Amino acid sequence: MSAAAIEAENITKTYRTGRHRSIEALRGLSFEVPAGSVFGLLGPNGAGKSTTTKILTTLSLPSSGTARVTGADVVRDAATVRTRIGYVSQGASTDPLLTVRENLELAARLRGMPRSEAARRATRLVDEFGLRENVDRAAGKLSGGTRRRLDVATALVHAPRVLFLDEPTTGLDPESRAAMWGEIRRLAGQESLTVVLTTHYLEEADRLADRIMIVDHGTKVVEGTPASSRRRSPETGCASSSSNRMPNARAVLPHPCWACARCSSRSRGRRPCSSHAPTTARPRSARSSRRSMRRGSP
Ligand SMILES: Nc1ncnc2c1ncn2[C@@H]1O[C@H](COP(=O)(O)OP(=O)(O)O)[C@@H](O)[C@H]1O
Ligand SMILES: [Mg+2]
Repeated sequence: MSAAAIEAENITKTYRTGRHRSIEALRGLSFEVPAGSVFGLLGPNGAGKSTTTKILTTLSLPSSGTARVTGADVVRDAATVRTRIGYVSQGASTDPLLTVRENLELAARLRGMPRSEAARRATRLVDEFGLRENVDRAAGKLSGGTRRRLDVATALVHAPRVLFLDEPTTGLDPESRAAMWGEIRRLAGQESLTVVLTTHYLEEADRLADRIMIVDHGTKVVEGTPASSRRRSPETGCASSSSNRMPNARAVLPHPCWACARCSSRSRGRRPCSSHAPTTARPRSARSSRRSMRRGSP
């Protein structure tokens, strides 16, 4: 058996959007993911991350190139690939009207498990993912973070060998994001599981992934290993981000904060976020002073 969980060779994907119009979402992407590792697939919106994930999970056909997941070809042996993977899509993938338990049992039954085994598996996942107090609640009534945890638990119902997570923390508050990171770390500890984590947060991939690949406009910009030891900057007290070690990352990604990758503040361009910006007030422009004088404010 191959030591690589995923082998992608020169995959391209062109979407036809009109009679004479098309979008080249992937332009010859090649990469390998070692079995048992966490692979961070990073890039800005529209880079081709979801397209890559959809091809590897057999939901979409590549226009050219080949890809194998656990040695099985995603086109010729799609059925085998599907039995070995779990997929958490970018949006919520559970039924909002079914309860937590019902969602898990349904997923297990769809994977061919008998009723009693499906119930046992659901109970185990409820405990593993801290869903006990919400077990009889409809998925649609859960908080964003809990719903996302249910999405991940559902994707693991058949104990897959490769788990694809497409932007699992986008839209979550910092607390829920931290909880999800904890879950991903826990899953990463399982030697038999390979995780492909798609994200546009550099910090997220930096913290969780063994290897990072940044894509933009459907091509690989840079691939590398986040440094294991983090140096702290004497000025900001922040851990050095992988964008400092991967200079191309800064040019491509909508960096959360110019000064570091730890805070979740989004400041595009080269301005540090409010927690890192100098605290001294900036002198007011003559125009804004005139405006406030007219309003009678100091
Ligand atoms: N079904 C589709 N039809 C047409 N264009 C698409 C489709 N899906 C994605 N695209 C386009 O392909 C490019 C890559 O999209 P996507 O893979 O979703 O990027 P990402 O997940 O990195 O944000 C974008 O330009 C997007 O608009
Ligand atoms: Mg996407």
